[in-house]
Amino acid sequence: VPVVRVGLLGCGNVGAALVGLVERRAAAIAGRSGVRLEVSRIAVRSLTRDRGVEVADGVLTRDAAAVAVDPEVDLVVEVIGGIEPARELTLAALAAGKPVVSANKELLANHGGELATAAEAAGVDLLFEAAVAGGIPIIRPLRESLAGEDIDRVMGIVNGTTNFILTRMTEEGADYADALAEAQGLGYAERDPTADVEGYDAGAKAAIIASLAFGQRVVAGDVYHEGIAGLTAADIDSATRLGHVIKLLAVCERVDGPDGPEVAVRVHPAMVPLQHPLAGVRDSFNAVFVEGAAVGDLMFYGRGAGGDPTASAVLGDVVDAAVNLRKGTFATVGIEGRARIRAIDEQR
Ligand code: HSE
Repeated sequence: VPVVRVGLLGCGNVGAALVGLVERRAAAIAGRSGVRLEVSRIAVRSLTRDRGVEVADGVLTRDAAAVAVDPEVDLVVEVIGGIEPARELTLAALAAGKPVVSANKELLANHGGELATAAEAAGVDLLFEAAVAGGIPIIRPLRESLAGEDIDRVMGIVNGTTNFILTRMTEEGADYADALAEAQGLGYAERDPTADVEGYDAGAKAAIIASLAFGQRVVAGDVYHEGIAGLTAADIDSATRLGHVIKLLAVCERVDGPDGPEVAVRVHPAMVPLQHPLAGVRDSFNAVFVEGAAVGDLMFYGRGAGGDPTASAVLGDVVDAAVNLRKGTFATVGIEGRARIRAIDEQR
């Protein structure tokens, strides 16, 4: 069975979980896909930190730039997060003809167009299932399964931290600060919780979802966002009395504008009726609700954060990219150009 050597950029929660998963699943993956995965290089900031995974001597290095273009690496996984140096490293790997699998929503939501162009020029895959809603398959369904569908609207609970906080506030009358601390303790929160509670994290994911759902590029800066920090126990109470729950929703819609179709993208707390499937999405779970003209309503539900679920999505992409690499083929993203964005004051 041919070996595909993986160079891993970053080895935090998700990276370490991926190393463990590859170890446990490599034989089964080889059996069904015909490629044997091997994590051959891992670029880290500290060579001494204990990550709870065993790696052979010489695999760890501090030189991420060298891993990105290493002739002995066939495929690159980027789980560093943030824009730089992740962007430079991804471009270098693509230019060196290596497929890249990324879990980096911030990078994809801000520079997805540039990266997709580089991947197409190199004729290799750029896959990013893990960048939105962690372990939930939503990118591939939007790109492939629903490629022919006329999608009207996508609504998502795509931030686990805020959903956890809202669930605790709703069901237990918890204090906002206590619930946030608990979410951080469980490892859901971003390092800076502002990205979660102010809706930036959900906004980046909404930009990626909207781009794929509508086939036109939407970037993070296009997304209107309002967070949950201003919500009070009284807001939660009145929603409950009206038969609703408050959820932080990412809403992506296609609307008619004066000069043709426009895309409306926003993140804000919303009253969701108890009978809607999104109302039952509790704790740190995520869900993405898709409304299509022919298919009707769909809902994708699962764990949107955490090492193993996110690594599971990364691994699926790695298998796909490894098989494509062997076949000499790659997936195209199918995004045509910039979307016309509806101004927020016309959305409400
Ligand atoms: N902080 C994010 C969340 C992690 O809470 O959903 C996954 O992107």
